[in-house]
Amino acid sequence: MSNKLLRYGIFVLCGLVALLAVAAAAVYLSSEARLRREYRVDVSLGAPDGSLVGMGRELALSRGCADCHGDDFGGKVVLDEMPFARVVGTNLTPAAGMDDPRLRHEWLYRALRHGVGQDSHPLLMMPSNSYSKLSLREIEAISAFLDTVPPVGRELPESALGPVARTLLVAGKLEGFLSAEIIDHDRPAVAAPPPAGTVDHGRHAVQMCTSCHGVDLGGGRMPHGGPDAPPASNLTSHANGLAAWSEADFILSMRSGKRPDGSTIDGRYMPWRAVGHASDDELRAVWSYLRTLPPIDREAR
Ligand code: HEC
Ligand code: HEC
Repeated sequence: MSNKLLRYGIFVLCGLVALLAVAAAAVYLSSEARLRREYRVDVSLGAPDGSLVGMGRELALSRGCADCHGDDFGGKVVLDEMPFARVVGTNLTPAAGMDDPRLRHEWLYRALRHGVGQDSHPLLMMPSNSYSKLSLREIEAISAFLDTVPPVGRELPESALGPVARTLLVAGKLEGFLSAEIIDHDRPAVAAPPPAGTVDHGRHAVQMCTSCHGVDLGGGRMPHGGPDAPPASNLTSHANGLAAWSEADFILSMRSGKRPDGSTIDGRYMPWRAVGHASDDELRAVWSYLRTLPPIDREAR
């Protein structure tokens, strides 16, 4: 190769490297601005009512907190896939420095209703968009329950986003990863859940299913599911959905992870173990509400 050609090659290469560096810096700065954004939440709550512990236990188990915060609620590494991301569910037990019940209640409120952490920054992957519709009583109950859990002192790494997750975030491909960005922070809070066992209670509880099964519960591809995830099933009474199911089938499927035909519901994507911790009353209410929905013709399985 002639000297001239070599110089030209080096010149082009340097240009490319510089271009890449600029793109990487742009992705970093743009994602960092979103991660560092402060969401101010002014809230003043008292210590939670201890009589709500039982209700809080059922909620914490059935709403899947343990899936990401550990069976002992002492925190766990949910995802360790650098250069994508490392995501770590926080220790929720009354550990050192986090043991004032009033402050813990406010902390939980911020995280569940607004998707922000103690430092007012958006939480990663915490599905607060579903939890933001919990009533104040339910948040208080979860808080009361978590105050009774034995403290756990576990060494955990910090959550961090790698270049791959940052690029996807900036490209708009990580829908729902920062719940704080999609929550309506001005929506007024509901004081308490509708009475147990009613269709209204079912409608309220089903709000934890819509992030995957869709607002119309007709199912389909999940926005945040990843390439290998199955579509969420159609939960309406269409033949493509749960037309042939009975209430008993539904309750049994959430307790066993099996459909009436004996096939397995994929527990890596459908949190049936968590949902199965709901009381019979609540599952019946969910079922009665599902049966009020118009059948939707969507193939989702
Ligand atoms: C899909 C996984 C997932 C589920 C389910 C989940 N969380 Fe989280 N949660 C996380 C992750 C991950 C973090 C830490 C995010 C971060 O570091 O930015 C977090 C953070 C929190 C925080 C705030 C911690 C802080 O840093 O200030 C609280 C409080 C919390 N979660 C409570 C709950 C409760 C209560 C439930 C159940 C109702 C729950 N979470 C369910 C993943 C989850
Ligand atoms: C994190 C996402 C997610 C959430 C939240 C979720 N589901 Fe699912 N669900 C799925 C996926 C994905 C499938 C399909 C699993 C498979 O193909 O094996 C499924 C399957 C099901 C099935 C089996 C139906 C069939 O024949 O395939 C039922 C019933 C169901 N979900 C009910 C619920 C209810 C009720 C809730 C709320 C209380 C809920 N799901 C919350 C993702 C979710």
